[in-house]
Amino acid sequence: MLKVGFVGWRGMVGSVLMHRMRSENDFAGIEPVFFTTSQVGQPGPDIGVDVPPLKDAYDQNELKALDVIVTCQGGGYTEEVYKPLREAGWKGYWLDAASTLRMADEATIVLDPVNRHVIDDQLAKGAKTFVGGNCTVSLMLMGLGGLFEADLVEWMTSMTYQAASGSGAKHMRELLTQMGTLRDCVQQELDDPASAILDIDRKVTESMRGDRFPIENFGAPLAGGLLPWIDKPMDNGQTREEWKGGVETNKILGHGANPIPIDGLCVRIGAMRSHSQAFTIKLKKDVPLDEIEDRLAKHNEWVKVVPNEKEATLRDLTPAAVSGTMSVPVGRLRKLAMGGEYLTAFTVGDQLLWGAAEPLKRMLQILRE
Ligand code: HSE
Repeated sequence: MLKVGFVGWRGMVGSVLMHRMRSENDFAGIEPVFFTTSQVGQPGPDIGVDVPPLKDAYDQNELKALDVIVTCQGGGYTEEVYKPLREAGWKGYWLDAASTLRMADEATIVLDPVNRHVIDDQLAKGAKTFVGGNCTVSLMLMGLGGLFEADLVEWMTSMTYQAASGSGAKHMRELLTQMGTLRDCVQQELDDPASAILDIDRKVTESMRGDRFPIENFGAPLAGGLLPWIDKPMDNGQTREEWKGGVETNKILGHGANPIPIDGLCVRIGAMRSHSQAFTIKLKKDVPLDEIEDRLAKHNEWVKVVPNEKEATLRDLTPAAVSGTMSVPVGRLRKLAMGGEYLTAFTVGDQLLWGAAEPLKRMLQILRE
């Protein structure tokens, strides 16, 4: 029975992972051990099976006794713990939600509905380090997997509409506080149907620009607007989030020396936990739209092709429809005015499920096969 240590299980991604594992009875048949950075010795969580009291997440001897470590604790923890543990000779499986190790040679980025062959090759070679991908990358590949599988993509842009959850729990709270602040500043006017909309708009804009508007986490007003910058700058004008789109996609697909150019702009919007993306895809050939839809729909059991119609789009292709579900709808599919090799598409996916917890949950299952 695999002895599996969980670190960072109380945070947002960790909590979603715990919930998914409980709901699919994944704790049966493993020996789970829960770690903490602050509450050593306290009772472990209620997961339906007995667990020992919480252990110290920095205690190398406790960690070395594990077959698998699953961490959602964040990059700082990975930086501090991973290397010394490997140097001390630990040969267990390290499953990580953080980006720290993703591009390291020894690490495989896991998204098994898309790259099970890469995962199996790496396992056969003795790989022990497996990392979940960037959320927009994983959600894009879940939606467009059928095009990549058929080797139809010559290049692609991804313009993202990323939810607050990608920045963290505090950011989700701040988004709602910003929304409430805007609403409250014009409450009287909203209650009066005769009030002038331009007065409402002026007050809202003043509130957004005011010193008291809550922007501690985002650094700028998100509610009622958007923020066209995510993560740190690279030295070529890309943000790190935009850079990940290209390098991680190609690593997941195992493209090595022949990467597909993938680039775009990443934008934060006022959605809570579902990321959306609009694509311009240059196909290698002019494939009929019905064949494209067929390939997309058949790629995995979670992708769902939404007809390019208003009613279906507004019903099925929005963060409100998708959040909290495993479904990855892809729609707005049509050829662009540039010609038959130019396809556009739009996807939505839950940032915490397929974007973070699910690939790790499934990798743990693969290790048990
Ligand atoms: N970096 C992503 C975001 C989340 O900021 O939305 C994690 O992949």
